[in-house]
Amino acid sequence: MSNIRTAAQWVSEAQSVVVLSGAGMSAQSGVPTFRDAQTGLWQRYAPEQLATEEAFRDNPAMVWTWYVWRAMLVNSVAPNAGHQAIGSWQEHLLAYGGSLTVATQNVDNLHERGGASEVLHLHGSLQNYRCIDCGRSAAFDPASSGMRADKTFDEDQALEPVACTYCAVGMLRPGVVWFGETLPQDAFHAAVDALHEADLVVVVGTSGLVQPAASLPSIGRDAGAKIIEINPVPTELSEVADLHFAATAAVILPDMLSDVVS
Ligand code: OAD
Repeated sequence: MSNIRTAAQWVSEAQSVVVLSGAGMSAQSGVPTFRDAQTGLWQRYAPEQLATEEAFRDNPAMVWTWYVWRAMLVNSVAPNAGHQAIGSWQEHLLAYGGSLTVATQNVDNLHERGGASEVLHLHGSLQNYRCIDCGRSAAFDPASSGMRADKTFDEDQALEPVACTYCAVGMLRPGVVWFGETLPQDAFHAAVDALHEADLVVVVGTSGLVQPAASLPSIGRDAGAKIIEINPVPTELSEVADLHFAATAAVILPDMLSDVVS
């Protein structure tokens, strides 16, 4: 049997599924990944200058502008066929008494916009903001900044960070997980719980280089789930996954799921 037929059979048998996604999931929507050669964000910008609390306190305008740019970019693109296939698969399983948990490292909202519900955001979300000092959540609409949604970051733009209206001391920061910060524990534990129950785990579009998210597939495998990896480039997981598709999310997911989604 071909790999795609094998995967389709596992899909039709699975009752309890976990999808673990990373930046490659949204690449075909037009959101750059972090580590892809040429296009990855971390090829052009140093993570320590943009994705740490220290960086924000040292250069709030630059870091704030970078996150507003990313939020604008995400808001301007659409979920791709891969996001939509996962959303429909979840709906299908729920209708038949099964479950599908999406746990993503992505800070975009493209899984939700592709139809998935209750997405676990392991690295937070670009849609949430809170005060860097008092920690209170605050509403912020990136469109109110006047920035255009551009494919590339214009380093000459500099937005003034927004002051917290509660404490009036701190500035708003994006609700994403920066290097050195702890993951949202409720989301992480919910992902671990789902992996203990899973019979099929689909890992899509992640290099598997950032812990602790990178350790999640092995929790599913140790609990007896089959692992399917989707990534055009082999990773450490490829050798131990039951199936590895060297293909892109928007192409292979609709194919693999064609028996369960219309
Ligand atoms: P990476 O940029 O490290 O990896 C993206 C992966 O997606 C690579 O292995 C690509 O080969 C693969 N890929 C590219 N295009 C794809 C496509 N169309 N379909 C499927 N796969 C594709 O992104 P992550 O693994 O998500 O953390 O990175 C993990 C974390 O590192 C991010 O959440 C972020 C970053 O620093 C924080 O911000 C805390």
